[in-house]
Amino acid sequence: MKGASLPNKVIVKAPATTANLGPGFDVFGLALEQPSDKVTIIPVSKDIEIKVSGLAADTIPTDPEKNTAGVVAKHILQEFSLKTGLMIKLEKGILPSVGLGSSAASAAAVAFGLNRLFNLKLDHKQLIQLAAKGEIASAGFEHADNVSAAIYGDFIIITSYSPLEVIHLESPPNLGICMAIPEVPTSPKKTEKARSVLPKTVSMEKLVHNVGHAATMAAGFATGDVDTIGKSMSDAIVEPARAFMIPGYQKVKERALKAGACGVAVSGAGPAMMAIVNSNNTNSSRVAKAMEEGFKSAGVSAETFCTKPGKGVSLLEVKE
Ligand code: HSE
Repeated sequence: MKGASLPNKVIVKAPATTANLGPGFDVFGLALEQPSDKVTIIPVSKDIEIKVSGLAADTIPTDPEKNTAGVVAKHILQEFSLKTGLMIKLEKGILPSVGLGSSAASAAAVAFGLNRLFNLKLDHKQLIQLAAKGEIASAGFEHADNVSAAIYGDFIIITSYSPLEVIHLESPPNLGICMAIPEVPTSPKKTEKARSVLPKTVSMEKLVHNVGHAATMAAGFATGDVDTIGKSMSDAIVEPARAFMIPGYQKVKERALKAGACGVAVSGAGPAMMAIVNSNNTNSSRVAKAMEEGFKSAGVSAETFCTKPGKGVSLLEVKE
């Protein structure tokens, strides 16, 4: 039950995120400065009602059992025995089902918003654990890479899932990010499908490749070296298995690197692809254009944008 001093409404901003960054499947996540979602949460007398507006709103389920935000909200109400209903309004600035952490943004916003609304005093790790429950609705698994980046901001490393351990590192100021989103059909179950094609076992050779590159990426962020971060973006395990789902995958990589990108990877489970750019010496728009042309050469149009690492989920408004 709501106490007299608790707020009547919160409005939260949650960032888009990119996961994996090449070698760090389910381990690396990076928050983007833009785009973002705006999420309003209002306690009501009973039930959870979800309203969705904004980008591709008609593709997002409003049934709380199937919607990421609804799953997280329901879980929190149960876990903390909160006898209330909720009105949740999702204003999507993040296109869903393309690899930009759209579901994670909704999940992180709801965990963060309810923490504020009901003064639950949860720390970052607890918020991540609750928000990750929502990923079951879209990915079939509680992967925490996107939600951790959405909660902390900047770059995160999931050290361990059980128990959950997360390292948070700031990004170098000259780290630019280019995104290219191909116009290919996707569905809300896209991530689950992209996970179903992954190998169940890997060779020692591929393991060594990924461990080496992932360790190099962590070193790149720890030392603030964008070129090292870019060079480490190579994955021998997950991307090769998923590449067939992204027409133009190889061409996008080649063209972006030729245009000056330090590294290129599939963004999360795709189909968006992301490139890292050293903004001290490289023009991001040229790289974005090269990525668009890479997709075009495979007969696919793509939308592109350039951004940089961003902050985690934040409070836009609270009505006491
Ligand atoms: N690590 C997840 C995956 C990210 O690649 O399936 C999904 O956004």
